[in-house]
Amino acid sequence: MSTTVVAIDGPAGAGKSSVAALLARRLGFTHVNTGSLYRAVALAVRRAGAAIDPVEPAFLDTLRITFEGNRLLLDGRDPGEALRSAACAADASLVAKQPAVRSFLLPVQREIAASQWIVMEGRDIGTVVFPDALVKIFLTASSLVRAQRRMAQGEVPPGATLDEVRREIERRDLQDSTRAAAPLKAAPDAVTVDNSDLSLEETVETIAAIVEAKRSKEG
Ligand code: DC
Repeated sequence: MSTTVVAIDGPAGAGKSSVAALLARRLGFTHVNTGSLYRAVALAVRRAGAAIDPVEPAFLDTLRITFEGNRLLLDGRDPGEALRSAACAADASLVAKQPAVRSFLLPVQREIAASQWIVMEGRDIGTVVFPDALVKIFLTASSLVRAQRRMAQGEVPPGATLDEVRREIERRDLQDSTRAAAPLKAAPDAVTVDNSDLSLEETVETIAAIVEAKRSKEG
Protein backbone atom coordinates (compact mmCIF):
# COMPACT_ATOMS: atom_id res chain seq x y z
CA MET A 1 0.00 0.00 0.00
CA SER A 2 1.63 3.28 -1.08
CA THR A 3 1.12 6.44 0.89
CA THR A 4 0.49 9.90 -0.50
CA VAL A 5 4.19 10.71 -0.16
CA VAL A 6 6.98 11.45 -2.62
CA ALA A 7 10.15 10.92 -0.57
CA ILE A 8 13.31 12.79 -1.57
CA ASP A 9 16.41 11.81 0.39
CA GLY A 10 20.03 12.67 -0.18
CA PRO A 11 23.09 14.45 1.18
CA ALA A 12 23.39 18.13 2.08
CA GLY A 13 23.63 20.48 -0.89
CA ALA A 14 22.16 18.11 -3.49
CA GLY A 15 19.46 20.71 -4.09
CA LYS A 16 16.72 18.78 -2.28
CA SER A 17 14.95 21.89 -0.98
CA SER A 18 14.77 23.75 -4.29
CA VAL A 19 13.85 20.57 -6.18
CA ALA A 20 11.24 19.50 -3.61
CA ALA A 21 9.66 22.98 -3.50
CA LEU A 22 9.38 23.23 -7.29
CA LEU A 23 8.25 19.63 -7.69
CA ALA A 24 5.54 20.12 -5.04
CA ARG A 25 4.26 23.24 -6.79
CA ARG A 26 4.21 21.46 -10.13
CA LEU A 27 2.32 18.44 -8.72
CA GLY A 28 0.06 20.49 -6.44
CA PHE A 29 1.43 18.75 -3.33
CA THR A 30 2.56 20.26 -0.01
CA HIS A 31 6.33 20.55 0.44
CA VAL A 32 7.79 19.47 3.79
CA ASN A 33 11.47 19.95 4.62
CA THR A 34 12.29 17.61 7.51
CA GLY A 35 15.82 19.03 8.01
CA SER A 36 14.05 22.04 9.54
CA LEU A 37 12.70 19.76 12.30
CA TYR A 38 16.22 18.75 13.38
CA ARG A 39 17.34 22.36 13.07
CA ALA A 40 14.38 23.47 15.23
CA VAL A 41 15.30 20.99 17.98
CA ALA A 42 18.91 22.26 17.89
CA LEU A 43 17.79 25.89 17.96
CA ALA A 44 15.49 25.29 20.93
CA VAL A 45 18.31 23.54 22.82
CA ARG A 46 20.73 26.41 22.20
CA ARG A 47 18.17 29.08 23.09
CA ALA A 48 17.47 27.32 26.37
CA GLY A 49 21.19 26.81 27.08
CA ALA A 50 20.44 23.09 27.53
CA ALA A 51 22.71 20.09 26.81
CA ILE A 52 22.94 19.22 23.10
CA ASP A 53 24.75 15.87 22.96
CA PRO A 54 22.77 14.15 24.23
CA VAL A 55 19.61 16.23 24.50
CA GLU A 56 17.84 15.43 27.78
CA PRO A 57 14.59 13.44 27.32
CA ALA A 58 12.96 15.86 29.78
CA PHE A 59 13.90 18.74 27.46
CA LEU A 60 12.32 17.00 24.45
CA ASP A 61 9.11 16.68 26.49
CA THR A 62 8.91 20.46 26.72
CA LEU A 63 9.22 20.97 22.94
CA ARG A 64 6.22 21.67 20.76
CA ILE A 65 6.90 21.45 17.02
CA THR A 66 3.87 21.75 14.76
CA PHE A 67 3.05 22.62 11.17
CA GLU A 68 0.69 25.24 9.82
CA GLY A 69 0.43 24.15 6.17
CA ASN A 70 4.12 23.62 5.43
CA ARG A 71 5.30 26.32 7.87
CA LEU A 72 7.11 24.93 10.88
CA LEU A 73 6.22 26.42 14.25
CA LEU A 74 8.41 26.07 17.33
CA ASP A 75 6.28 26.61 20.41
CA GLY A 76 3.71 28.31 18.20
CA ARG A 77 6.18 30.70 16.52
CA ASP A 78 7.97 30.68 13.15
CA PRO A 79 11.72 30.51 13.91
CA GLY A 80 12.46 32.00 10.46
CA GLU A 81 16.03 32.62 9.30
CA ALA A 82 17.59 31.39 12.57
CA LEU A 83 17.22 27.84 11.20
CA ARG A 84 19.38 28.58 8.16
CA SER A 85 22.68 29.53 9.86
CA ALA A 86 25.80 27.38 9.51
CA ALA A 87 25.94 27.02 13.31
CA CYS A 88 22.38 25.69 13.39
CA ALA A 89 23.23 23.21 10.59
CA ALA A 90 26.20 21.88 12.57
CA ASP A 91 24.06 21.62 15.75
CA ALA A 92 21.29 19.86 13.78
CA SER A 93 23.75 17.20 12.67
CA LEU A 94 24.59 16.57 16.34
CA VAL A 95 20.96 16.11 17.40
CA ALA A 96 20.05 14.09 14.26
CA LYS A 97 22.30 11.20 15.31
CA GLN A 98 20.41 10.74 18.60
CA PRO A 99 17.75 7.97 18.56
CA ALA A 100 15.66 9.81 21.21
CA VAL A 101 15.44 12.90 18.99
CA ARG A 102 14.59 10.81 15.92
CA SER A 103 11.78 8.95 17.68
CA PHE A 104 10.46 12.23 19.07
CA LEU A 105 10.23 13.60 15.49
CA LEU A 106 8.81 10.47 13.83
CA PRO A 107 5.12 11.04 14.71
CA VAL A 108 5.46 14.75 13.86
CA GLN A 109 6.48 13.76 10.32
CA ARG A 110 3.90 11.00 9.89
CA GLU A 111 1.09 13.23 11.05
CA ILE A 112 1.70 15.77 8.28
CA ALA A 113 1.12 13.15 5.59
CA ALA A 114 -2.06 11.79 7.15
CA SER A 115 -4.34 14.23 5.40
CA GLN A 116 -2.61 15.46 2.25
CA TRP A 117 -0.32 14.72 -0.70
CA ILE A 118 3.22 15.76 0.14
CA VAL A 119 6.74 15.95 -1.20
CA MET A 120 8.86 15.26 1.87
CA GLU A 121 12.61 15.76 1.81
CA GLY A 122 15.18 14.53 4.29
CA ARG A 123 17.67 11.73 4.87
CA ASP A 124 15.53 8.78 5.99
CA ILE A 125 12.09 9.48 4.53
CA GLY A 126 12.11 6.49 2.14
CA THR A 127 13.96 4.19 4.56
CA VAL A 128 12.34 4.93 7.95
CA VAL A 129 9.59 7.55 8.01
CA PHE A 130 7.62 6.36 4.95
CA PRO A 131 8.98 2.97 3.82
CA ASP A 132 5.76 2.65 1.76
CA ALA A 133 6.11 6.01 0.00
CA LEU A 134 4.60 6.18 -3.49
CA VAL A 135 7.93 7.26 -5.01
CA LYS A 136 11.41 7.33 -3.44
CA ILE A 137 14.14 9.49 -4.93
CA PHE A 138 17.75 9.52 -3.75
CA LEU A 139 19.02 12.89 -4.97
CA THR A 140 22.77 13.39 -5.05
CA ALA A 141 25.59 15.35 -6.72
CA SER A 142 29.39 15.46 -6.42
CA SER A 143 30.78 17.17 -3.28
CA LEU A 144 32.44 19.82 -5.48
CA VAL A 145 29.17 20.75 -7.19
CA ARG A 146 27.39 20.78 -3.83
CA ALA A 147 30.06 23.06 -2.33
CA GLN A 148 29.76 25.43 -5.31
CA ARG A 149 25.99 25.60 -4.79
CA ARG A 150 26.37 26.32 -1.06
CA MET A 151 28.82 29.14 -1.84
CA ALA A 152 26.46 30.61 -4.44
CA GLN A 153 23.60 30.53 -1.91
CA GLY A 154 25.79 32.26 0.69
CA GLU A 155 24.99 29.52 3.22
CA VAL A 156 28.61 29.39 4.42
CA PRO A 157 30.58 31.04 7.22
CA PRO A 158 31.99 34.46 6.21
CA GLY A 159 35.33 34.12 4.35
CA ALA A 160 35.06 30.34 3.83
CA THR A 161 36.89 29.00 0.76
CA LEU A 162 35.43 26.51 -1.74
CA ASP A 163 37.81 23.84 -0.50
CA GLU A 164 36.80 24.39 3.15
CA VAL A 165 33.11 24.23 2.25
CA ARG A 166 33.71 21.04 0.27
CA ARG A 167 35.55 19.42 3.18
CA GLU A 168 32.80 20.44 5.61
CA ILE A 169 30.21 18.86 3.27
CA GLU A 170 32.23 15.63 3.11
CA ARG A 171 32.57 15.65 6.92
CA ARG A 172 28.79 16.00 7.32
CA ASP A 173 28.18 13.29 4.69
CA LEU A 174 30.38 10.94 6.68
CA GLN A 175 28.69 11.85 9.97
CA ASP A 176 25.21 11.44 8.47
CA SER A 177 25.95 8.18 6.62
CA THR A 178 27.89 6.37 9.36
CA ARG A 179 25.68 7.18 12.35
CA ALA A 180 23.92 4.23 13.94
CA ALA A 181 20.45 5.82 13.99
CA ALA A 182 18.80 6.07 10.56
CA PRO A 183 22.00 6.60 8.53
CA LEU A 184 21.80 8.42 5.21
CA LYS A 185 21.43 5.77 2.51
CA ALA A 186 19.27 5.08 -0.52
CA ALA A 187 16.29 2.76 0.08
CA PRO A 188 16.64 -0.43 -1.99
CA ASP A 189 13.65 0.64 -4.10
CA ALA A 190 14.73 4.30 -4.48
CA VAL A 191 15.59 5.82 -7.85
CA THR A 192 18.98 7.56 -7.63
CA VAL A 193 19.11 10.89 -9.47
CA ASP A 194 22.61 12.46 -9.74
CA ASN A 195 22.05 16.08 -10.72
CA SER A 196 25.72 17.21 -10.91
CA ASP A 197 25.16 18.02 -14.58
CA LEU A 198 21.44 18.81 -14.50
CA SER A 199 19.78 22.21 -14.03
CA LEU A 200 17.11 22.64 -11.36
CA GLU A 201 14.38 22.48 -14.02
CA GLU A 202 15.85 19.35 -15.60
CA THR A 203 16.03 17.68 -12.18
CA VAL A 204 12.40 18.54 -11.45
CA GLU A 205 11.34 17.30 -14.91
CA THR A 206 13.16 14.00 -14.35
CA ILE A 207 11.49 13.39 -10.98
CA ALA A 208 8.05 14.63 -12.07
CA ALA A 209 8.14 12.09 -14.93
CA ILE A 210 8.91 9.30 -12.45
CA VAL A 211 6.02 10.39 -10.20
CA GLU A 212 3.55 10.71 -13.09
CA ALA A 213 4.49 7.27 -14.41
CA LYS A 214 4.00 5.73 -10.95
CA ARG A 215 0.68 7.49 -10.39
CA SER A 216 -0.76 6.38 -13.72
CA LYS A 217 0.41 2.82 -13.04
CA GLU A 218 -1.25 2.84 -9.62
CA GLY A 219 -4.43 4.18 -11.24
O1 DC B 1 18.86 19.12 5.25
P1 DC B 1 19.37 19.94 6.43
O2 DC B 1 20.76 20.47 6.23
O3 DC B 1 18.42 21.03 6.83
O4 DC B 1 19.45 18.89 7.65
C1 DC B 1 19.94 19.27 8.92
C2 DC B 1 20.50 18.03 9.62
O5 DC B 1 19.45 17.12 9.95
C3 DC B 1 21.52 17.23 8.81
O6 DC B 1 22.63 16.91 9.63
C4 DC B 1 20.83 15.96 8.43
C5 DC B 1 19.75 15.83 9.46
N1 DC B 1 18.53 15.23 8.93
C6 DC B 1 18.25 13.92 9.23
O7 DC B 1 19.06 13.28 9.91
N2 DC B 1 17.10 13.35 8.81
C7 DC B 1 16.23 14.03 8.07
N3 DC B 1 15.10 13.43 7.65
C8 DC B 1 16.50 15.38 7.72
C9 DC B 1 17.67 15.95 8.16
